[in-house]
Amino acid sequence: MNKKFFTMSVILAVLLVLFSFQISSTTEQKAKDLTKQELIKRGEYLVRFGGCNDCHTPKVLTPNGPVPDKARLLSGHPSDSKMPDIDYSLVDTGKWVLFSPDLTLAVGPWGVTFATNLTTDKQTGIGLWTEEIFINSMRTGKHMGAGPPILPPMPWFNLEHLEDEDLKAIFAYLQSLKPIKNLVPAPIPPSQLKTK
Ligand code: HEC
Repeated sequence: MNKKFFTMSVILAVLLVLFSFQISSTTEQKAKDLTKQELIKRGEYLVRFGGCNDCHTPKVLTPNGPVPDKARLLSGHPSDSKMPDIDYSLVDTGKWVLFSPDLTLAVGPWGVTFATNLTTDKQTGIGLWTEEIFINSMRTGKHMGAGPPILPPMPWFNLEHLEDEDLKAIFAYLQSLKPIKNLVPAPIPPSQLKTK
């Protein structure tokens, strides 16, 4: 009886191991089998769900609030928009964070930050980035993966734990965007901001 039980257990264990190999090899197979077009589609899906458009896409302002401007998708804070005066005393106490109405500009204790141009324009966007640079910068929270820290409110720590395949899909989608020339200003440090 005991022997029978032992044999059954061994068979079951072997089957379980085989089954789990089967599962992991089919998921790996799936990721590898994505065509370029499917990878881009998955990237678009992740970018939409990941809220990248919230900050990186200029908006059309409607009575129901800001909606992404499809003609300027992911091109960052518009260089032609004028920054209104800021009373920095509201912010440097850490009590408030301000956003421009289109959410592409944010003011906080870190200063003023402008959502960057993620399109393929070579001078003003990320057209010259490699997949490796993108993955490293999202994993480390540093510009280009090695430079100064990427400032708030960029939620890079939400992307940090994505699997390589997902980050690759996001990058493939960003690299499929048409280039839009839009030079986003550099962040303004708190020392350059006035308190009234
Ligand atoms: C809440 C606003 C916000 C959201 C949401 C957001 N970002 Fe950002 N992002 C920013 C800001 C602001 C910066 C610029 C930070 C700085 O100047 O240091 C930035 C910077 C970046 C950079 C660095 C660009 C560079 O030149 O180094 C990349 C890449 C990026 N974002 C990608 C994304 C992706 C992909 C998503 C969606 C998963 C996303 N962001 C969601 C606000 C946001």
